[in-house]
Amino acid sequence: MARHLITSAIPYINGIKHLGNLVGSQLPADLFARYRRGRGDEVMFLCATDEHGTPAELAATKAGKPVAEYCAEMHDVQAKIADGFRLSFDHFGRSSSAQNHKLTQHFAGRLFEQGLIREVTETQMYSPADGRFLPDRYIEGTCPNCGFDSARGDQCDNCTKQLDPTDLIEPYSTISGSKDLEERETKHLYLCQSQLKDKLATWIDSKSDWPILTTSIAKKWLNDGDGLQDRGITRDLDWGIPVKRGDADWPGMEGKVFYVWFDAPIEYIAAAQEWVDSGKGDDWERWWRTDKGADDVTYTQFMGKDNVPFHTLSFPATIFGADEDWKLVDYIKSFNYLNYDGGQFSTSRGRGVFMDQALEILPADYWRWWLLSHAPESSDSEFTWENFQAGVNKDLADVLGNFVSRVTKFCRSKFGEEVPSAGDYGDAENALIADLTTKIRAYETHMDAMDVRKSAGELRAIWVAGNEYLQNAAPWSTFKTDPDLAAVQIRMALNLIRLYAVLSAPFIPDSTGKLLSAMNTLDTAWPDDVTAALSALPGGHAFSVPGNLFDKITDEQREDWQTKFAGTRD
Ligand code: 2FM
Ligand code: ZN
Repeated sequence: MARHLITSAIPYINGIKHLGNLVGSQLPADLFARYRRGRGDEVMFLCATDEHGTPAELAATKAGKPVAEYCAEMHDVQAKIADGFRLSFDHFGRSSSAQNHKLTQHFAGRLFEQGLIREVTETQMYSPADGRFLPDRYIEGTCPNCGFDSARGDQCDNCTKQLDPTDLIEPYSTISGSKDLEERETKHLYLCQSQLKDKLATWIDSKSDWPILTTSIAKKWLNDGDGLQDRGITRDLDWGIPVKRGDADWPGMEGKVFYVWFDAPIEYIAAAQEWVDSGKGDDWERWWRTDKGADDVTYTQFMGKDNVPFHTLSFPATIFGADEDWKLVDYIKSFNYLNYDGGQFSTSRGRGVFMDQALEILPADYWRWWLLSHAPESSDSEFTWENFQAGVNKDLADVLGNFVSRVTKFCRSKFGEEVPSAGDYGDAENALIADLTTKIRAYETHMDAMDVRKSAGELRAIWVAGNEYLQNAAPWSTFKTDPDLAAVQIRMALNLIRLYAVLSAPFIPDSTGKLLSAMNTLDTAWPDDVTAALSALPGGHAFSVPGNLFDKITDEQREDWQTKFAGTRD
């Protein structure tokens, strides 16, 4: 049995994520996890909340709560919403877990032993008014690269350039607004990534099957030298993982913590330990240690493009540098951005539709289908309410929903609530089977390759093929002259519903659950043999007519939501 380890980039704890975040990592990762399980593979699907760093501290301050309490609450909020979207994580962990503390300190110790960590005395911005250093987001100013006036100390939101707080023009404290800042000396640990440059370059070069988006970003960083400068992995903050070498204190590093981007990817491993410690599993090492069986695991990571440098260079530098038997990623699937109605989704500005709001107005499957079928793969894509309405109404309501409703209701009225038995499949059915076989094999190829949009397109084509068959077969007419022929056609159509449920489950799991229960079957076997799959429900098999699967989005609803979401969230 093939084994797949799948991780989604772990969302920051500071608030509820928007639909752009969702479609950039968690949702396509879930699609792939569900698909692999559907194919009979063993899957370990992990995600977590990213709880350290200045975003967490700042959000807790804004909420007026101690940061640990804030993180615990927000973790539960995010877990509940993830569940609402049916994200099928085997474990949804926390980067602040005891397991991640220990493992992060372990990695730091190993890297130190390998001579890959050096101590650097540097100047950092200090605010006398706040009585503290101002790393990362505690400081803002004008971007030296593009002139954006609220660039943060670690990165410019406008041009995405990675920054150092001392690069900012006219900087100010985001705590007090004070502009009275001075540069003070402080000591930090640097990871000597530059020593691993050749190894990383050879590794990236060997990944000719990776998406161009992933390798082009990795190579740009490698060749610019920008991403492979040695990198500070500690911060003058209170909240975070205390700097230690394994269990031992690190002289001179008292009161400092690891940088959030050092410990966050290590949480991918720690999440598997949390999975074991919470009693859900009994062996995390067979997923993560190549000396304990993980050498036959295929490991795939999902993330937005802004995360690519950390996953192609920094985290692999940690793994290579530790020189132990850790499982390295095999495939990195990255995404462009989803924009919102002519601009960007933005958490800090509250612009767009957020995950909780989305679930308040429509069931998860509507969002899952639209987002995945418009995944920003080859370029950025755009959410508009018109486009969303059109996609949902056409694909889900008109094509899939309508097919199910017509077939089941017609059967109930003419043959009763059981699969009609008369007759055998003939030429039209065999032609359909041949056509579907080709389409299903193409669907598998796209899903195997994680080509999300192409997969959605092929699935839609599979639904359309059933509709066309039904339209041409026209059992409502044949029933009048040849009821046995109508029985054959309806038996085929009812079997198509079960087949659709199995194939579509990775995209729309709630609706396909309803289809399977209406078809009164637990048979979710993947259709390796399409002929057999389309005879799975034999004559005489009882079924029921499901309630309406998808409601169309009305123009009035669309206009309402357009207005409601035009502003920014508080
Ligand atoms: O961009 C983000 O949302 C980060 N919190 C992703 C971290 S992924 C990883 F390193 F764990
Ligand atoms: Zn900029």
